[in-house]
Amino acid sequence: IQSLLLFTVLFLLIADYLKTRRPSSFPPGPWALPFVGNIFTLLLFFQTSLQLAETYGDVYSLRMGQTWMVVLNGFQMLKEALVTQGDSLADRPILPLQVDISHHLGVIISNGHLWKQQRRFALSTLKYFGVGKNSLEHAILDEFTYSAKDVTVHKGKRFNPHLIINKTVSNIICSLVFGHRFEYEDEWFIELIKRFDNDLYMDRPTPPLLYNSFPLLMRRLPGPHQTVQQFWSEVKDMIRSEIKEHKKDWNPAEPRDYIDCYLTEIQMRKGDAESTFDEENLVICVMDLFAAGSETTSTTLRWAFLYMAKYPEIQEKVQAEIDRVIGQSRQPSMMDRANLPYTDAVIHEIQRIGNIVPLSLPHSTNRDIQLGDYTVPKGVVIIPNLTSVLFDKREWETPYTFNPGHFLNEEGKFVKRAAFIPFSAGKRVCLGENLARMEIFLFFTSFMQQFTFSMPAGTKPVLDFRYGLTLAPAPYEISATLR
Ligand code: HEM
Repeated sequence: IQSLLLFTVLFLLIADYLKTRRPSSFPPGPWALPFVGNIFTLLLFFQTSLQLAETYGDVYSLRMGQTWMVVLNGFQMLKEALVTQGDSLADRPILPLQVDISHHLGVIISNGHLWKQQRRFALSTLKYFGVGKNSLEHAILDEFTYSAKDVTVHKGKRFNPHLIINKTVSNIICSLVFGHRFEYEDEWFIELIKRFDNDLYMDRPTPPLLYNSFPLLMRRLPGPHQTVQQFWSEVKDMIRSEIKEHKKDWNPAEPRDYIDCYLTEIQMRKGDAESTFDEENLVICVMDLFAAGSETTSTTLRWAFLYMAKYPEIQEKVQAEIDRVIGQSRQPSMMDRANLPYTDAVIHEIQRIGNIVPLSLPHSTNRDIQLGDYTVPKGVVIIPNLTSVLFDKREWETPYTFNPGHFLNEEGKFVKRAAFIPFSAGKRVCLGENLARMEIFLFFTSFMQQFTFSMPAGTKPVLDFRYGLTLAPAPYEISATLR
């Protein structure tokens, strides 16, 4: 029995070595353990990703179980890969957890023809609802009035802004996809946003990593990953019920929202063999818009309040600029942005230093490509390390300091910086970038116009983070005083 065991172990080791040995002319990286690869490095990857770049250079490789990954670092390398060679990197890898949740549908993890059709449709629908009198700008300003009421209730006393902000920004996605907002006390709404809340995924890189490395085993094992799966399946049921309601009074001539437009698209393309539009895809697309579009914007605003409390002199300058340009008698509008260079610079700096999607989403090569000195074969997972760009010392004067001056010239005018890529770049660049920028600008300026944020007496702002769906501030309490 002993020799059989020894033979089996030896056989597995050799098979693992032959199957997963580093391909020739492949980027270097730390030594990988048999079977599990660099799983221990990956568990702390967000913290160590920059040190690895110092050791191995802007392109290095790691192994997750049996899967090879190449990590790209620095502005020049990401630009070369995502923009110049964008077509070769436009795919998403087929990772078991994501496939089990979304079944290759929707926008975020789909590929090829299906992805192109769904992305194009989502972009044009966002554009459609972004203009006109029922525009999303109007929805955002309207939503602010509800949000401000909930903040005012605390009368300047300490409170945790997390849930209020989640409700505020989730209602914008609700306006877009469901055509209406929800009252903040609505139980259905509260249940929905709970399932996209960062806290659910906080400090839990292990389950997705293990799930994607050992899917056959993990699918059978109980654990937190099963709860998350259960939550996603409940979300799908909730979205299906909204679609059912929509169908009752849907009028193709007067689309109210994303779901109405999608139902029309399904009908129009009936009989078209190329069509990827059906109700199951609609459910996943809606889920994608919530997953990608609520916690991200909410996290950014939560960083914004914390930075303003930490740097009261910067907050005062923002408020002074808003008072001068907008005053107190009307709400801000997108037209004001060009006249608020300091505020705009502060928002950009919050996004840069907040770095809320530090490793972007994974891409995958769809042909053999050359990256720097290395050849990366087709089918390799690519991690665009956005952290390495947003903190690239070759691009930013003071990368680790909160410095709105990164986006201002000597005359105080706003300047665009190419290395500002919190939304990534290239073919898969964030689909909601324009909406997100509009939300962040309008919510931030509206809050600054009406409130002053400060730390509750006796406390200091701590810029600690937790890593879940996004890189978010650790839970904190703040005071918001009416101006
Ligand atoms: C993808 C960032 C808000 C929808 C992404 C990616 C990043 C990102 C880094 C990955 C890009 C890549 O793979 O190269 C952010 C940030 C946001 C934000 C920082 C807010 C501050 C939004 C909003 C929406 C949205 C509001 C929805 C309306 C999406 C979708 C994708 C995506 C659907 C997948 C695109 C694709 O695979 O083609 N986002 N996002 N995002 N984002 Fe955003």
